[in-house]
Amino acid sequence: MIADLLIKNASELVTAQGTRGSPKTKDGMQDLGIIRNGAVAIDGEQIVAVGETDAILATIERVRTVIDAADRIVLPGFVDCHTHLVFGGSREDEFIQKIEGRSYLEIMQGNGGIFSTVEKTREALASPQDLANRAQAFLAKMLAHGTTTAEIKTGYGLSTESELDLLNIIAELKGSQAVDIVSTFLGAHAFPKEYEHRKANYIQLVLGMLERVKNQGLAEYCDVFVEAGAFSPSEARAILEQAKEQGLKLKLHAGEFSDLGGPELGAELGATSIDHLEHISERGMEVMAENKTMGVLLPGVPFHLMTNRYAPARRLIEAGVPITLATDFNPGSCPTLSMQMIIALACRELKMTPAEAINAATINAAYALDRGDKIGSIEVGKRADIIILDIPRHQQLPYWFGVNLVAGVIKNGVMTCRPYATE
Ligand code: NIG
Ligand code: FE
Repeated sequence: MIADLLIKNASELVTAQGTRGSPKTKDGMQDLGIIRNGAVAIDGEQIVAVGETDAILATIERVRTVIDAADRIVLPGFVDCHTHLVFGGSREDEFIQKIEGRSYLEIMQGNGGIFSTVEKTREALASPQDLANRAQAFLAKMLAHGTTTAEIKTGYGLSTESELDLLNIIAELKGSQAVDIVSTFLGAHAFPKEYEHRKANYIQLVLGMLERVKNQGLAEYCDVFVEAGAFSPSEARAILEQAKEQGLKLKLHAGEFSDLGGPELGAELGATSIDHLEHISERGMEVMAENKTMGVLLPGVPFHLMTNRYAPARRLIEAGVPITLATDFNPGSCPTLSMQMIIALACRELKMTPAEAINAATINAAYALDRGDKIGSIEVGKRADIIILDIPRHQQLPYWFGVNLVAGVIKNGVMTCRPYATE
């Protein structure tokens, strides 16, 4: 065999391989498909061989570059399947108010919360290139922390023009940096202040936006924030049904602060995922499991908002809901770019094991973006998005929390990032 790149001697090669065609559930989430003293060969952008180092070396005739990963683990690049990465400003002052005891919804009911970011984002859109550059810098940090694919939502424009501008920035980011991007239209993130007393008119406006989003091919998913103070299930239904008719796939923000029946609605409409789920009923879990609707858990949110109310991950796993982890990177409820931090929180607060959390952040997250056949695991034929961590066992990933353990990131078969390279 001839290969461009060979990574050998990994103390653990975490393949995250599972059953082709479906995300991991229940006990399957414990299985990381680990190969000790493992190797992976890459040709072009693709993985061409995976196995024990001796066996792989025996099949290789010629290889251009060899990386020795002795005493390190090798795993699939993280897939961050829920972010709001394009925004103006920051909200550290609100964070201080939260430390002093004000809640997220209280702050949002004033002029703070999402609305303050909408204002800053609209201002920033006066020079879209600066906003794009800032987003690009965030993505470079994400990559350095091991994320090789990220979903990005709009939702801080909330007018036809600014939402389309945000989608165009997201489209530009696809070609201007290394992280693979999946775009989601979230025009229904909040009712903008100017429509506060004309909610039906804003729904009509969003339906009009959807038409343009579809015609210009700017988004793969449509998302709606279902919550008291945001969109009711019936308002969400009107938007999601039209989005579905137009061929967009669906996601919902639901159960962040209260259970309004978002899981039931999302499962009924065939949504790919329902995200947050800090509040969810037994029935909600059942219908998600029955419909194979993915649950995207975002433990960085209750951590940053200091609500102490985390998604019931153990019960979701037991019920058979396929779950994933993501950052929800945004300036209000979770300003972290690090999937390593999210995995550390998932183990401590959601009581997920390191193996479950790693599967949730890689192969299952790939399924939450309908890309489970292309990325999320180290398997022959998949895209060579691979990270090397400076630890000898995967159990240490959540253990050494708050530091970047990445020694190298291989994106599309190319070593793009070596934050802590030692040789
Ligand atoms: O996922 N819940 C709604 N949207 C974001 C927060 C947005 C913001 O606070 O700016 C979330 O938590
Ligand atoms: Fe979100």
